[in-house]
Amino acid sequence: MPPEDENSPQELHGLFKQANEAALHSYSPYSGFRVGAALQLANGAIVTGTNVENVSYGLTICAERAALVRAVSKFGPEIRIEAVAVANLNKAPSPPCGACRQVLAEFVLPEAPVIFPAVDGLRTMPFSELLPLAFEMKPKEQESKTIEPRKAK
Ligand code: THU
Repeated sequence: MPPEDENSPQELHGLFKQANEAALHSYSPYSGFRVGAALQLANGAIVTGTNVENVSYGLTICAERAALVRAVSKFGPEIRIEAVAVANLNKAPSPPCGACRQVLAEFVLPEAPVIFPAVDGLRTMPFSELLPLAFEMKPKEQESKTIEPRKAK
């Protein structure tokens, strides 16, 4: 049998399952909305995250950003995200929020599929369609700069 294509529907479905499992760890006493995210990295690893709420509501961390911060912390700033899955245990639509899209844009490949529950069931779309006009900035030359910023395109 030929090897499975990395972002085949089966692989994406497996990633979605991991996002769903990550949501079991959600700390969401204020909204009751339990979210999980799973990132497929180019190095082959899968990193998951869940939402962690705070009594000062605005300090809440979304599942996608939790996963991203975990991935960079574990593997360093060279990571590339090849696929993203978002799930929730509330049987509700949960596309990644705008803030998470902008944060993911720093490390995600534009063609990376993003799978998430939509109003009409599971939906998959390329990241570049979810966030067509990410904010970008050419950083000033800095003597202390140690690492090039990610380039989404
Ligand atoms: N949430 C996420 O984890 N990801 C998103 O993309 C949107 C929202 C969380 C934050 C909060 O804990 C709960 O969902 C309700 O907004």
